[in-house]
Amino acid sequence: MKILILQDRAAGTRRAAEMICDSVMRRPDGVLGLATGGTMEPLYAELVSRHREGRLSFARAKSFNLDEYVGLAPSHPQSYHSYMDQHLFGHVDFAPGATALPDGSAPDPHAEADAYEARIVAAGGIDLQLLGIGRNGHIGFNEPTSSLCSRTRVKTLTESTRAANARFFGPGEEPPTYAITMGLASILDAREVLLLAFGKEKAPAVRAAIEGPVSAFTPASVLQMHRHATLILDQAAASDLELREYYFTVHPDGAPAVV
Ligand code: GLP
Repeated sequence: MKILILQDRAAGTRRAAEMICDSVMRRPDGVLGLATGGTMEPLYAELVSRHREGRLSFARAKSFNLDEYVGLAPSHPQSYHSYMDQHLFGHVDFAPGATALPDGSAPDPHAEADAYEARIVAAGGIDLQLLGIGRNGHIGFNEPTSSLCSRTRVKTLTESTRAANARFFGPGEEPPTYAITMGLASILDAREVLLLAFGKEKAPAVRAAIEGPVSAFTPASVLQMHRHATLILDQAAASDLELREYYFTVHPDGAPAVV
């Protein structure tokens, strides 16, 4: 794993945007794996501004999102479909039909999950998968005890995840109980993965993911098994890492290793 510790959230976001731009420039017709959550909002804003400046085009790219709530139609304001339209798709130049999320309103969510996994495979797999991390170490909606071999499927959300995501819902609205999410093995199939974690509240999950054992109890720890995983952290998210000075020496301010 490449562990890049940046000064703050803004610097980490810029570094991640650079990596995404490089990937899209190297392979303009590549397949991106996209994520949602508060962490991604400034990143998507940065990608939108690079697109507006004419420095980034998604015209030939495809994308697959990690997950979607079961029971929310794509048009629901809190669906991840709406999130993606609001923060990215509505402002950049993906071709019609080039972006995909699981359909949380499908009559059979289990069949939808299987079909979604098959669509990713048919597209040739994901070149670069973007990830956030939940406070309990989840990636996508792979909650603790998710099988390390899991594929896209329906998962029950933990109360702590529902509570953390309640801020995106209006008063009196409850976050759904189930989601369709890519599995841990689906994520590991991506040719490159990029996880972003910012803020003190992510520090314990980051520590467990990087320095703990590979364990279904900390789903993000499965990234230890990936050959091309980069984790971009700010100082606060890195603050519990035992070897943080070593990581910083190898990649000062997130710079590439010198050797
Ligand atoms: C949700 C998403 C995850 C995301 C996590 C953290 O549960 N399914 O993909 O990583 O939230 O979100 P935030 O960036 O808001 O902390």
